[in-house]
Amino acid sequence: MIAKPKGTIDIKGNDSIIWEYVNHVISNMMNSYNYEFIRTPIFEMSELFHRSVGESSDIVRKETYDFKDKGDRLITLRPEGTAGVVRSYIENKEYVLPDVKKYYYNGTMYRYERPQSGRLREFTQFGVEVLGSNDPIVDAEVISLQYRILESLGIENLQININSLGNNESRNNYREALVNYFKPHINELCDDCKERIKTNPLRILDCKVDADSSILKNAPKTIDYLNSESKKRFEEVLKYLDYLEIDYEVNPNIVRGLDYYDHTVFEIVSLDNDDSKNNVLGGGGRYNKLIKELDGPDSYGIGFACGIDRIVSLLKEMELYKNIKREIDVYVMYVSEEEKLYSLNIVQNLRLNGVVCETDNLNKGLKGQFKVADRLNAKYLIILNNEDLQKGLVTVKDNATKEEEKIDIDEITEYIIGSL
Ligand code: HAM
Repeated sequence: MIAKPKGTIDIKGNDSIIWEYVNHVISNMMNSYNYEFIRTPIFEMSELFHRSVGESSDIVRKETYDFKDKGDRLITLRPEGTAGVVRSYIENKEYVLPDVKKYYYNGTMYRYERPQSGRLREFTQFGVEVLGSNDPIVDAEVISLQYRILESLGIENLQININSLGNNESRNNYREALVNYFKPHINELCDDCKERIKTNPLRILDCKVDADSSILKNAPKTIDYLNSESKKRFEEVLKYLDYLEIDYEVNPNIVRGLDYYDHTVFEIVSLDNDDSKNNVLGGGGRYNKLIKELDGPDSYGIGFACGIDRIVSLLKEMELYKNIKREIDVYVMYVSEEEKLYSLNIVQNLRLNGVVCETDNLNKGLKGQFKVADRLNAKYLIILNNEDLQKGLVTVKDNATKEEEKIDIDEITEYIIGSL
């Protein structure tokens, strides 16, 4: 037997019902907010992620799936969605129109992480990227959209943690403050952090090894190093969130694990999940330098992504979703070849009219078919027999009350639709 690779999952059974429902809520909401669906390749040139997610990020340093294709090109399975969307925006010169581009995506991402609860090697994210506007109102809209989608799924104890990294000047000042602060403590930190102080000292703040150390907890806070322009911008984002009635916590420890961010950064967590490391349902932020760094124009971007696997795991624990089961509307039963021919039309008509319908494909006897209908949780049974069919009738049985009725064969679809 060949087992699935470590860190991957099969989505099936009741999980797939929740999964489909989550996707349905996402696409409806994205539609209302006028986001355009974008699908970018699952693999991209490796350089794209090195130049966006960043050489000093854990993702690029340790977690990407890289390979050379048969043409000797360095390829990487996408570890996240932002880089591909920005690459497509630039490559297709979407920026020539004076419009804001609002994209949403939903697809698998790949990170070679240590598999554990909430952390997979193949996982699915949905997310948005808004390109071309620097208005702080967009930051607030993106954050509120993320919140509203999770809220519409019935997730209640959500907390938005928000922070600002500021513009270049603010980030440089902050970087300097961090280096000065960490230098005397560097021997107390892990080996990776000893590297990070040289490459990207901000990364020390989201180190998983040193997370609980008081050195990290007492480190300088980004907020204290924002210049007046960045501070004003951040205050506006918070003001708009207040107007949208979105609660948030300003949390100076949110620095995010990807290198492309500036200004607003945020994460959304579920307080119902006590696994502190893996309860982050989504995160995002502004990236006003990234488009230019990827050889596009000097433009603006912001977005978020949420992990659908984590959302589905959380929903499965909730009362609302616990009793979800796959069920069908109708099971059509027959035995003889003649009855079978009638069943073909009945089943097809019901299905074309949106009725979830199943029938026997294993030539089982009636007893066996009753058992299957029960396993499928059929609401109604349509039982065909030659004698009734001669008179133009079929038997319909309500599987809950066990009541039976004879119905004209030409009216069966209408009858079922009316009864459901
Ligand atoms: P991220 O914080 O790396 O951001 O990932 C977003 C979400 O994806 C996480 O909050 C988590 O729910 C889910 N996720 C990440 N890694 C895993 C994993 N190994 N297993 C299961 N779920 C996971 C980004 O990816 C950015 N591209 C977000 C963004 C969009 N920023 C701007 N625009």
